[in-house]
Amino acid sequence: PQPSVHSEQGRVVARLPTGDSVEILLYGATVISWKSNGKENLWVSKAAKLDGSKPVRGGVPIVFPCFGPPPKNHATSSLPQHGFARSSHWEYLGSSSSESGSLARGGDDSIKLDFGLSHAQLSEDAKKQWPYAFGLVYSVTLGGKERTLQTMLRVSNQGKESWEFQMLLHSYFGVDDITRCQINGLGSSTYIDKVLDASQHTQSTPSIAITGEVDRVYTSIKQDTTSIVENGKPRLDIQRDRLVDSVVWNPWIEKAKGMSDFEPKDGYKNMVCVEVGAVDGWQRLEPGETWEGGQIVRSHL
Ligand code: BG6
Repeated sequence: PQPSVHSEQGRVVARLPTGDSVEILLYGATVISWKSNGKENLWVSKAAKLDGSKPVRGGVPIVFPCFGPPPKNHATSSLPQHGFARSSHWEYLGSSSSESGSLARGGDDSIKLDFGLSHAQLSEDAKKQWPYAFGLVYSVTLGGKERTLQTMLRVSNQGKESWEFQMLLHSYFGVDDITRCQINGLGSSTYIDKVLDASQHTQSTPSIAITGEVDRVYTSIKQDTTSIVENGKPRLDIQRDRLVDSVVWNPWIEKAKGMSDFEPKDGYKNMVCVEVGAVDGWQRLEPGETWEGGQIVRSHL
């Protein structure tokens, strides 16, 4: 059997002969499912809007060109929180499998899907809010051999003036029980604690337990891999590629209650966001320049 790809009704689904699969919504180029060994690795809210009316609450939304509410007095200041990439309609550019060669990563059986977004495809609002000539290519590679999902974002400046951006792959990972999980690989890094006081702290312990609301922006991380360990066993390894920042987020009880698209309300027990990106300061791109960054996630199931 060969890897297969189906594209219909605004979605692209790829399946490997092993049965592992990935599903991407063209709205936001949001990965909404990644299954390995029959088990879902991502968390998607039961109330997530999948009809293009709102960014998806779950999966892997793409944050670009600003992270969080944009600062005042910056070129992104009129954009919504987390920018427009997660709420734009992307184009499916096609697939390549190991048979056709030219693969990024992933082992023998793997399939790569490419998605594109450029200025011309934006809504009229977004075009006005951020009037720069940009090109994004998002490549999602499902690897069978090592049960990996690689997601890479390539950003290029196709205009005549330079501009700045931030980016983040806002992955919601699924876990059986958050109280039995630890997040490893962030020890000694500095972070801004958005829940506490927005001040800077240093991660003093090698692993983090999630026992309440967490919203931390780790920057300039020394280790390249952050791991989710459940019941003392490795569950997911999230390896950064050309990225040094990560956000760890769990809304816990009260914040989950406040989000209309977060269901079930106790779903915070079954997810944790470990988001890789470039969110500390800004990446500047000169005309004609290209930048690339992303992640390789390995499932231990
Ligand atoms: C995280 C931020 O990346 O995204 C949080 O650090 C934020 O502060 C969360 O609440 C979700 O954002 P949104 O816009 O999808 O509700």
